[in-house]
Amino acid sequence: VGLQWGDEAKGKIVDLLADEHDIVVRYQGGANAGHTVVVGGKTHKMSLVPTGILHPNVTAVIANGVVIDPATLLKEIDGLQQNGVHVGGNLLISDRAHVIFPYHRKEEEAVETGHAAIGTTMRGIGPCYRDKYGRGGFQVADLYCPEYFWPRLEAMIAHKNAYLSAVLPGGFQPFDAAALYREYLTYAEQLRPMVTDTGEYLHGALAAGKRLLFEGAQGALLDVDHGSFPFVTGSNSSAAGVWSGSGVPARRIDRFIGVLKAYTTRVGRGPFPTELLDATGDLIRNTGREFGTVTGRPRRCGWFDAVLVRNTARLCGVDALAVMLLDVLSELDELSICVEYVCQGKRTTRPPANCDQFAACQPVYRTMPGWKRDISNARRLGDLPAAARQYLDTISELVGLPISIVSVGPDRAQTIRATD
Ligand code: GDP
Ligand code: IMO
Ligand code: MG
Repeated sequence: VGLQWGDEAKGKIVDLLADEHDIVVRYQGGANAGHTVVVGGKTHKMSLVPTGILHPNVTAVIANGVVIDPATLLKEIDGLQQNGVHVGGNLLISDRAHVIFPYHRKEEEAVETGHAAIGTTMRGIGPCYRDKYGRGGFQVADLYCPEYFWPRLEAMIAHKNAYLSAVLPGGFQPFDAAALYREYLTYAEQLRPMVTDTGEYLHGALAAGKRLLFEGAQGALLDVDHGSFPFVTGSNSSAAGVWSGSGVPARRIDRFIGVLKAYTTRVGRGPFPTELLDATGDLIRNTGREFGTVTGRPRRCGWFDAVLVRNTARLCGVDALAVMLLDVLSELDELSICVEYVCQGKRTTRPPANCDQFAACQPVYRTMPGWKRDISNARRLGDLPAAARQYLDTISELVGLPISIVSVGPDRAQTIRATD
């Protein structure tokens, strides 16, 4: 699970760990996620499909908590197949997952062009979750029940057309219910072999002693309940989403790995106390190639914020940390880590709930020397310069957890297991 604002390199960690597992499960989010994996010099970008699909012996599961845009999913499957990745019986889709329709993206457009914009990925994620919680959404299973699906879709589209023509007066083309119905039936037929009761499947797998790996999307700071509201995503993107999003009870999970960058990034709007709006921020962005996988937007960059990660690690019940992209900091003379905030004149180690108060928090930094050496070839902790080890030790001490993995480059091989 990501412990920051997403893009912590969860894809790389899932790919590393997938070998030791039989099943990889996505339990929340949708095509707002962009998980990059580099295997033997070849880059794969995963969005809705769990990263585990790249492993021939793994079954990939898109569980009930995910929101699925069928056209996007079919396109992604097609792209994977063209890239030589086998997708067949090894991908399962929950019959309870909610479905994204084009009107969701239009509704998002209406919000994102107004004063309350969040800077979303424009994939219809928020409006789809809103319909789910408003009890007006459609589950995948509903697409196979025409007598249920058609009248509800027709009524929903009449409602959405009326709403959208009020909020998007300039040039809104109303949706044609019958055309959309036919389109979605076609998608449903294409997806049919993969659709199943994944909750039942996962419980059967657990009973059979299979090893499950849950792949978080986004990060805990984007969690709708525990993140930097309202600048969050529509799901429980912390570990809190595993149970509701998969049907596997939290007590069946043995270990949580918290994935974090050695610094902080954020895409879209919202508070970011350690943001660097200077040459150091630009250097991190360019060295770390910090441009969004999904939208191509430049990611906002800043110092590592131990206040936030200590809170999210605790929220997620994390056992061990995976510290990613450490190599990106190699050129810096000096590094800073935020250890507490000054908020409304008081020192605090807890981010305030209100976003304006959070944005006004002043970070208190601990500075330490950089290592000024290429570390991308390090394969053991002992290969790292003393200053890099000190930086890692400081993160571990401030977050209060051991570090089990350190990543020094995008490739699978550029990884240090702390036990090595
Ligand atoms: P995710 O959404 O959490 O899976 O992360 P993304 O894939 O969106 O972003 C992480 C980016 O960092 C990807 O382009 C990875 O290939 C890359 N990456 C992963 N680990 C490392 C690392 O240790 N060093 C560097 N320089 N890049 C890395
Ligand atoms: P991965 O899985 C980084 C951000 C968006 C926006 C906010 C809400 O690759 O880490 P949404 O489209 O979800 O309604 O947008 O959340 N966001 C992400 N940022 N990584 C992600 O996924 C993200 N998914 C959503 O930029 O600020
Ligand atoms: Mg990403």
